[in-house]
Amino acid sequence: NFYILHMNLKTYVKDVPDFPKEGIIFKDICPLLASSKATNYAIDQLAKGLHEINVTKIVGIESRGFLLGLALAQKMGVGFVPIRKPGKLPGAIIKETYALEYGEDTIEIQENAIQEGDQVVVHDDILATGGTAAAACKLIEQCGGTVVQCNFLLELGFLDGRAKLEDYALHSLMHY
Ligand code: PRP
Ligand code: MG
Repeated sequence: NFYILHMNLKTYVKDVPDFPKEGIIFKDICPLLASSKATNYAIDQLAKGLHEINVTKIVGIESRGFLLGLALAQKMGVGFVPIRKPGKLPGAIIKETYALEYGEDTIEIQENAIQEGDQVVVHDDILATGGTAAAACKLIEQCGGTVVQCNFLLELGFLDGRAKLEDYALHSLMHY
């Protein structure tokens, strides 16, 4: 095992024009996931600075937030909690609905997955408008947890998702 000093993760993100709709440039993280070296490096960078905080849970947001969320939880030695799209989680759940550009979306968490006193890191692949991550933070707080950081592989700065997350510490590995 050698220590990689610096990698340019952006070389592992592919721009896909007009996907999923015309006029949108999709950021495809599959090349990053396909590289063990890049994925390892990304997980190391996401974990950086978290060792100084007493993190007790990593929350990942369905579905792309699951990919590195679980890996980050393993790296930190803490448990992983999924936030899912509606109707997927059994038992007592809490839901949060948030606005999209057109329409709305809902996400859910199992209410006993986070307890009073939990220090939670929220992970997702991309911060765009911030609606998803902000709703995730609300769910965690309703369960009695504290959000100590939201981290992302990449952040689309021009969509200003940060404005919706100004109460939280943010960490993004790539900025566009
Ligand atoms: C994408 C992305 C984030 C979210 C960011 O997920 O993975 O979860 O959108 O958008 P926002 O900041 O504007 O809320 P998507 O809904 O495409 O689903 P997926 O993760 O299942 O692919
Ligand atoms: Mg997603």
